Parts: sequence; C-alpha cells; structure tokens
Amino acid sequence: MSVSCLYSPKLSIFLLALCVSLFTLYHIQSLHAGTTSSPPWSFVHQWKRVTNCTQEHESMAEKLRQSVTFLPLKDLRYADKALQGHTWFMSSMYDTHEEGEVQYQQFPSESSKRRLLCLKGKETHDGSWNSYALAWPEALPFNATLLKGLTFVSYNHYNYDNIWHGLSAMVPFVAWHIRNGCESPSRWILYHWGELRFEMGPWLRTLTEATFGGAPYTETFEGVDDGQPLCFEKAVVMRHNEGGMSRDRRTETYDLMRCKARMYCNVSSEGRIPEVNKQGLPVIGMTLFMRTGPRSFTNESAVIGIFEKECAKVDGCRLMVAYSNNLTFCEQVKMMSLTDILVSPHGAQLTNMFLMDKNSSVMEFFPKGWLKLAGVGQYVYHWIASWSGMRHQGAWRDPNGDKCPYAEDDRRCMSIYKSGKIGFNETYFSEWARDVLDEVKIRKLEEAASKTIASTSACACG
Ligand SMILES: *[C@@H]1O[C@H](CO)[C@@H](O)[C@H](O)[C@H]1NC(C)=O
Ligand SMILES: *[C@@H]1O[C@H](CO)[C@@H](O)[C@H](O)[C@H]1NC(C)=O
Ligand SMILES: *[C@@H]1O[C@H](CO)[C@@H](O)[C@H](O)[C@H]1NC(C)=O
Ligand SMILES: *[C@@H]1O[C@H](CO)[C@@H](O)[C@H](O)[C@H]1NC(C)=O
Ligand SMILES: *[C@@H]1O[C@H](CO)[C@@H](O)[C@H](O)[C@H]1NC(C)=O
Ligand SMILES: *[C@@H]1O[C@H](CO)[C@@H](O)[C@H](O)[C@H]1NC(C)=O
Ligand SMILES: *[C@@H]1O[C@H](CO)[C@@H](O)[C@H](O)[C@H]1NC(C)=O
Repeated sequence: MSVSCLYSPKLSIFLLALCVSLFTLYHIQSLHAGTTSSPPWSFVHQWKRVTNCTQEHESMAEKLRQSVTFLPLKDLRYADKALQGHTWFMSSMYDTHEEGEVQYQQFPSESSKRRLLCLKGKETHDGSWNSYALAWPEALPFNATLLKGLTFVSYNHYNYDNIWHGLSAMVPFVAWHIRNGCESPSRWILYHWGELRFEMGPWLRTLTEATFGGAPYTETFEGVDDGQPLCFEKAVVMRHNEGGMSRDRRTETYDLMRCKARMYCNVSSEGRIPEVNKQGLPVIGMTLFMRTGPRSFTNESAVIGIFEKECAKVDGCRLMVAYSNNLTFCEQVKMMSLTDILVSPHGAQLTNMFLMDKNSSVMEFFPKGWLKLAGVGQYVYHWIASWSGMRHQGAWRDPNGDKCPYAEDDRRCMSIYKSGKIGFNETYFSEWARDVLDEVKIRKLEEAASKTIASTSACACG
C-alpha cells in the first residue's frame, strides 16, 4: 500500500485509521450481502477505494491549508474608533465577555471553531503590515511553525514602559490567570497598534515575574522570516485592558498582584496593623513620593516641612521621603507596604498605590490647568484607588503656574501646562494632612482593637 501523507504525521494517522475503518465496514457489509467468495479483483478494487478516500482527504486538507487567509492586525478602517467594540486590532474577531468578567479571546475555543491563532510579520513601525489568521491544527498554513504552550498576546494602545499603561495591559491577563486555574504563559507577544514590541519596562517585567512565577519570555521572532507564520497551540488575546470587569474582579486582581509582589520581594504580607510605637500606638506611615522634572514641587523643602510638622503632631506618625526615579521594584514594594498615606503629584509613580495595605490613603497634586484641559485621563489614580481598595483623599490643584498666551481653556495650553511644576499652599496642605491623619489614626486604632486582621499570607494563586 503506497498511501503516503506528505503533511502532518497526525493527519496521516487519522486518515489512515479512518480509511481502514471504512474499508472494514465495507468488507463486513460485503460479507452480509453474501459476497463471501470475493474474487481477488474485488479486493484490489476495494483497496483502490481506500486509496482514493485518503487522497480525497489529503486534497481537502490541502484546500483548507490554501484557504487560510491572513488579515492585517491593524485595520485602518477603524482608525477613528481604535479602542471601541472589536477595535482596530484583529478587527474581524469578537471578544468573549461574560457579565463582570474580563473580555478576552482564546484559541482554540468553541467560538474559534477549534481553530488556532497564527500571526505573521515582524513589523515594528506599521501594524497594518503584520497579520493574523485562524487555522485548524490539521491544516496549518504553509511553512508555519507551531509553538507549544500558552501564549499571551497583548494589545497596548500606549506602551509597556510607563508603569500605569504597562499595568493596564497586564491586569486582564492576571484576571484570566485567576479564572483559569492559575495557568501561566510560556511566552508573551507584545503589540502596540499592531506593531511588535520586545521589551517591558523593568518595573512591569518584575511585576510580571512575581505574579506569574517566572521571568516573562517575550517572543522576538528571531530566526523567523517575514512571511513565515507562527501558530500557537493555545493563545489568549487581550485588547480591552480591564474594561468590562466588575469591581470585585478588579479587586481580586490587585489583591493577587500585591500578594505576589510582596512575596517575591520578601516583604511581610501580614500587613502592619500589629506594628506599634513605644507608646503602643499603631504606626502610621506617611510617604512623600517625589518626582524630578515635570510635575515636581517647585519648593520641595517647603512641602516636606509642612508634612513633617503635621506628622510630628500625631503619635505614631512616621514620615518618609522618597524619589520615584531611583527605586527598584522591590524597594517600591517595600516602601508601599510601610505606607498608610501616600502623598504624591499626579504621575505614573502613583500606580504603586495598589501595593499598600488595603484602605490606605492617597493625596494627589496637580499643576495649574489640568482640570479644564487634561480630559478623563487625569482621574486614573482615582480609578485605580477605587479598583484596588484604597481611599483617594482628593487632589490639590495649583491655581498658579506658567502663563499660557492663549485663552485659559485653549487646548494648546495643555502642552505648556503638561510639564508644569507644583507650588504649595501651607494653610491648605496643613489642614488637609491633619484631616487625613485623623481619619487614618481612628481607623488604625479600630483595627488594632478589633484585631480582625485577615491573614493574607497565602496568595490566591499558590
Ligand atoms: C476516485 O475519485 C475520483 C474523484 O476524486 C473519481 O473520479 C474516481 O472515479 C474515483 N475512483 C475510484 C476507483 O473510485
Ligand atoms: C516556504 O518557505 C520556502 C523557503 O523559505 C519558500 O521558498 C516558499 O515559497 C514558502 N512557501 C510559501 C507558501 O510561502
Ligand atoms: C528573598 O529571599 C530569598 C531567600 O532568602 C532570596 O533567595 C531572594 O533573593 C530574596 N529576594 C529578594 C528580591 O530579595
Ligand atoms: C522654599 O520655601 C521656604 C519656606 O517657605 C522658603 O524659606 C524658601 O526661601 C523657599 N525656597 C525657594 C527657592 O523659593
Ligand atoms: C534619588 O534621586 C533623588 C532626586 O534626583 C536624589 O536626591 C537622591 O539622592 C537619589 N537617591 C539615591 C539613593 O540615589
Ligand atoms: C476597609 O474598610 C472597610 C470599611 O471601613 C472595611 O469594611 C474593610 O474590612 C476594610 N478592609 C480591610 C482589608 O481592612
Ligand atoms: C490657601 O488655602 C486656603 C485654605 O483652603 C485658602 O483660604 C487660601 O485662599 C489659599 N491661598 C492661596 C494663595 O491660594
């Protein structure tokens, strides 16, 4: 028998088994029909049918293989609503979305009709030159490489360096991980507007390592030709950040990252509620988290002086001053675990707030002009506070700052205000610090009294 399958060995075995079964059935039928004394020519005839059957299946697989169609990853028809609905990234695909859960795509799945995801192209400047397709495992496109294990495919509208935007892209994968037996990826494929990215910033990379229990491997497509597709045994695609997730789901996600980060950095996960000072009062950590350059305080020593003075008036208060530019990930995790009140200008460093014990406080500062001009993006630290279980204690907006030559609400002013510095108002800062310190002190005393410290020594994903 000279039936040879030129393609996947699995397919050959499958087809052969199928044909042998059909042959056997046919033969049994022949027996029943009473043609027991089959002459040799009949046997040959039947083998021909088997051979023919195999050939037909092969030609069908060949047709399927030929019909795999690659579409541009970035669909320019949706450039004006890049983030809405099915988005401009893999625009022919719809997400799986159950009420309150993260929105995602998984391949293979029922909705992909058990087809795998394949990606092609190494473009780093124009995502419309990279492409995607779905294919059945028995009929992968020509020259395709099948990559085993779980692949996370991330769409990020901004970047993987800024810790806020990086975290936003990470959150949905953490949510999926929790809902899917804590399965961790073998590799990441990072896209920005459909363009490949090969690096996560150090903060994000370390958080990813801590959360998923291993250094993330980012696929670089090294040794892969431009026209050579990669297909994935199992892939999960995220393009909506935390959109669609209920508050409980978000909280659960931040809880896991906090727990994993503290464990990774050898920081106690028990929280500091039991920590007391010499008089037996709970310690209140107040941290001034400073920026350098844009949105730094014009007069740092004055600002530090104000908070120092208010902190000194409260038994148990301990002031820390730190700079966001030169702390490692674990230094930030450690510092946040010792912080009950985070005092910091608007900026990515505030993303670290989710690493504080839950119910901790945040005080935020803006330079002039942001309220009118900065859009909803200025509220992201209100949002993350709410999602991660922190208390955003409001924001101070500097009424003074650089002059803009256009009308106050002219959008062109934003480029001037964007990098503005932040002054201070001693009266306002003092009263505000006093109010927040009072609230935190009462809460900590209550917590110490009730001793209902939830043990957080075990993370949700062991
Ligand atoms: C084999 O299949 C082809 C069509 O694919 C058909 O024309 C031919 O008659 C078949 N031969 C036998 C022996 O069944
Ligand atoms: C497969 O790869 C070979 C060698 O790189 C190339 O010559 C051939 O055209 C490719 N086939 C297809 C269908 O792309
Ligand atoms: C945490 O402690 C372990 C064991 O003592 C050590 O191997 C590891 O390097 C520490 N990690 C960090 C981030 O300090
Ligand atoms: C900063 O503020 C302090 C206290 O108000 C003041 O003494 C000092 O002159 C200020 N420094 C600058 C550079 O304005
Ligand atoms: C961190 O950066 C700040 C601001 O540039 C600087 O004042 C401080 O000395 C630096 N700390 C370390 C440990 O390098
Ligand atoms: C946070 O505060 C709320 C309301 O006071 C309380 O119900 C909750 O238990 C607190 N959470 C933690 C983790 O202490
Ligand atoms: C400083 O804050 C106080 C209290 O909110 C306010 O009454 C005062 O007008 C502010 N001063 C300036 C210069 O804005």
